[in-house]
Amino acid sequence: NIFDGFVNSSDRDYAINDEREAAQTALQQVRRQLGKTYLPIINGQAVETETYIESVNPANSSQVVGKIGLASIEQAEEAVQVAKNAFSSWKKLSAKERGDILRKTADIMEEKREELVAWICWEVAKPIREGDGEVSEAIDFCRYYAKEMERLESGVQRNLPGEDNTYIYQPRGVVVVISPWNFPFAIALGMSVAAIAAGNTVILKPAEQSSVIGAKIAEVLQAAGLPTGVFTYLPAKGSTVGAHLVKHPDVHLIAFTGSQQVGCQIVTEASILRPKQKHMKRVIAEMGGKNGIIIDESADLDHAVVGVMNSAFGFAGQKCSACSRAIVLAPVYDNFLERLVEATRSLKVGEAHLPDTKFSAVIDGAAQQNILNYIAKGKETAKLAFEGEVPNHGFYVPPTIFSDVDPDSAIAQEEIFGPVLAVIKAQSFDEALAIANGTNFALTGGLYSRTPSHIERAYREFEVGNLYINRGITGALVDRHPFGGFKLSGIGSKAGGRDYLLQFLEPRSITENT
Ligand code: SER
Repeated sequence: NIFDGFVNSSDRDYAINDEREAAQTALQQVRRQLGKTYLPIINGQAVETETYIESVNPANSSQVVGKIGLASIEQAEEAVQVAKNAFSSWKKLSAKERGDILRKTADIMEEKREELVAWICWEVAKPIREGDGEVSEAIDFCRYYAKEMERLESGVQRNLPGEDNTYIYQPRGVVVVISPWNFPFAIALGMSVAAIAAGNTVILKPAEQSSVIGAKIAEVLQAAGLPTGVFTYLPAKGSTVGAHLVKHPDVHLIAFTGSQQVGCQIVTEASILRPKQKHMKRVIAEMGGKNGIIIDESADLDHAVVGVMNSAFGFAGQKCSACSRAIVLAPVYDNFLERLVEATRSLKVGEAHLPDTKFSAVIDGAAQQNILNYIAKGKETAKLAFEGEVPNHGFYVPPTIFSDVDPDSAIAQEEIFGPVLAVIKAQSFDEALAIANGTNFALTGGLYSRTPSHIERAYREFEVGNLYINRGITGALVDRHPFGGFKLSGIGSKAGGRDYLLQFLEPRSITENT
């Protein structure tokens, strides 16, 4: 059985009144807790820091979600020593013992689901439906990696007359997790619990914009009974403390999700052997995408319009999986574009906590400016097909669609990480595939088609890590849609898939002459 008994956690159904109300109640409860201070937690103790930053609600930037104490280099040094010490006992536990703590973590998250969704919503302006999906994904990561480690722990036995052969895995050591703000809960927790399930110890440096959610991860792991020192919450500046951790001789593995620029820096720095370092470091880096969906002349346009719109504008396009290019065959181009524009016009824009909001602000002022610059560039090189209206408080960027986009232009080649969609016309399916594959990235991609030969060719020729046919291209589920790309989209195998934990382990082969 390929599913092997794993069942994904179910999202809330907000069509049900009680579930909608519970979400709103939690949002108000959490709102009353905004503005508290969060400090790094080293060896189970909150430690005072010299510098602080404020994390604000991007949709209403005068609302402070939390004050974050940023760890110093000396504190990062201490965190590595703590993680190193904790490793000597954590690695000795069985996969079942470690897995039980992660299953408990998952159960706690199920109980606190509304509260966690509320924190995600306030801190990164993620609409509640999407925040809820994120909590489901985090729960799945805990249960899936716990189970996967039990499968791997049994190893492989290959005995012959006179010779016993055993193949087993051991953990690597101290893992530094550098996580992004766009899936502040699921990705930070997913990378961390993979390392923990495999018997490693973890230092989490969350993105500065989502450090309060990082603290919530620390809280649930602690409540589940994770021994002190196995997980360290270390909010800090990436450019100084993050860089220091990457270079540290006692760090074995860096698990990173974020920009291509930072990913490449980490790979470079981690490859340098430092004094006293006794191992080569491994880097897992999940980076960007410039994901395209092909809509051919046989596509069901009702589905294609909704799928493209949700994939492009869900969480304001701030997903590495988001659709930023729609590649449309000439016979349906005008019809598709017109319907897409009308559908996008109907997106409800506003603060993320409001129940009917579908589209909210982007993460911060720097992101807003960067995306607006791309929109200005798009206006010079393509036709503006739609630009939505947005409030003037908070970091909003209008949902924007460009048509007749040149596939080689900047808005069709560079990752914008915002709500900007390039619609490109193709004269043939061959040309559509060539355009789809014609970027430096290979993360997600999609095809809307009812032509079997086109679908078959997409299986073979569409070069992406995650290909979706006749559906949207975001929202990968653990186990069902293991997630990750290749080319400049990253190195490392897929999160939520069967090869993921192997990266956190060292295989050993033992032969006994009997
Ligand atoms: N896993 C997410 C998705 O599929 C992106 O990180 O949308």
